[in-house]
Amino acid sequence: MTSLDIPELALVALVGISGSGKSTFARRHFASTQVLSSDAFRAMVADDENDQSASAEAFDVLHYVAGKRLRAGRLTVVDATNLQPHARAGLVRVAREHDVLPVAIVLDVPEVLAWERTEERADRTFGRPVLARMSRDLRRTYGQLAREGFRKVHVLRGVAEIDAAEVRYEKLF
Ligand code: CTP
Ligand code: MG
Repeated sequence: MTSLDIPELALVALVGISGSGKSTFARRHFASTQVLSSDAFRAMVADDENDQSASAEAFDVLHYVAGKRLRAGRLTVVDATNLQPHARAGLVRVAREHDVLPVAIVLDVPEVLAWERTEERADRTFGRPVLARMSRDLRRTYGQLAREGFRKVHVLRGVAEIDAAEVRYEKLF
C-alpha cells in the first residue's frame, strides 16, 4: 500500500492523461462534493462536458467555487487533466490566495491502456494524436510541478500502484 499524505486542508490537483483514471480515483478516495471536475463545469457553462472552447469560462467558475470551499476550510480536489502549466498555475494561485497548500497527485498509466479505456467510452471522441500530445505534456510536467509551487507531489505509476494507494490526512497543527 502506498500512503498519500495530504494536509487536512489542501487543494489537490489530480494530474494525468485522459483515461488514466482520475475520475475513478476521485470517486474512490473523496466525497463527491469535494471533487470539482472540469467536465462538470464545462457542462454547467456550455451544456457539453467535452466543449473545449468552454474551458476558460469553466475554469473561471471552478476556481471561484474552489476559492469559496478553501475559504471555508474544505479540502478540494480538482479532477481535470492539469497537464498545462497555465492550468496548474491557476490552481496554485487559488490555493495561495487562501493560504492552503497545493498538492499534486499524478496518475501515470501506459498510454496504450489509457487509449483502450478511452475507446470504450461513448463520452470521449478525440483521436489518438490528442492522447499522444497529453502524454508528451505529462512527461514535461514532471520537471515542473515542484517548482510551480506544489508542496507535495505524489506520483502513482501503473495500475497496481494506483489501486494500492490510500489517502492519509496529516493534521495541520
Ligand atoms: N477504468 C478502469 N479501471 C480503472 C480506472 C478506470 O476500467 N482502474 C475505466 C473507467 O471505468 C473509465 C475509463 O477507464 O471508463 C477512464 O477512467 P476515468 O477515471 O474516467 O479516467 P479519467 O482520467 O478521468 O479520464 P478523463 O480525463 O477523460 O476524464
Ligand atoms: Mg475524468
